[in-house]
Amino acid sequence: MSFHPEMAYDATFHKSARTLAEPGEPFVYTAEHRARFDEIVTRYPADRKRSAVLPALYLVQHQQGYVTANAMRYVAGLLEMTPADVEDVVSYYTMFYTKPVGRFVLSVCRTLSCALNGAERVTEEICGALGIRPGETDASGTFTLIEVECLGACDRAPVVMVNDGWQERQRPEDVGRLLDDLRTRGEAALTGCVHVIEGGATS
Ligand code: FES
Repeated sequence: MSFHPEMAYDATFHKSARTLAEPGEPFVYTAEHRARFDEIVTRYPADRKRSAVLPALYLVQHQQGYVTANAMRYVAGLLEMTPADVEDVVSYYTMFYTKPVGRFVLSVCRTLSCALNGAERVTEEICGALGIRPGETDASGTFTLIEVECLGACDRAPVVMVNDGWQERQRPEDVGRLLDDLRTRGEAALTGCVHVIEGGATS
């Protein structure tokens, strides 16, 4: 049971609306990503290789921007899992995308603390500024908007995660400046922490 109102749009990114991933081109890691993968796998017991599935999928997403069905099959083969097991992981976590996304993915938290502090109005402001709905990418290919559940920064609500970093205490009136700053300064414009993720990308 959810306290959220019924969504009036087709929120295809929300994980309750599971869709089949695009098959995509045949996938293999680049030499650099394969070396990174090989190193990551050594952190786990030989009979528990599947424990590396999250970083393995992050590497895929780093390489081609989203995770195709062929990439899931590739990762499944490397980790001795079934493709269905890998698809279960991809479909569970909102940070994995199964179709192309913009340069910046804006993930607005809609769980209790953020909802009570105006997250819905922030989402509406982003929609109005970009001419898109949640689950869509703007015409320039710069921004994708999604709604997600708690990001673990409830004391700084409402929170907008931008790629691997986040923007804290967002108000609707801050949205225009955030979008402009991202266009000009990139993730350096963010006020919250920016993670170092598997694959070496930082900002
Ligand atoms: S409710 Fe939004 S970060 Fe926890």
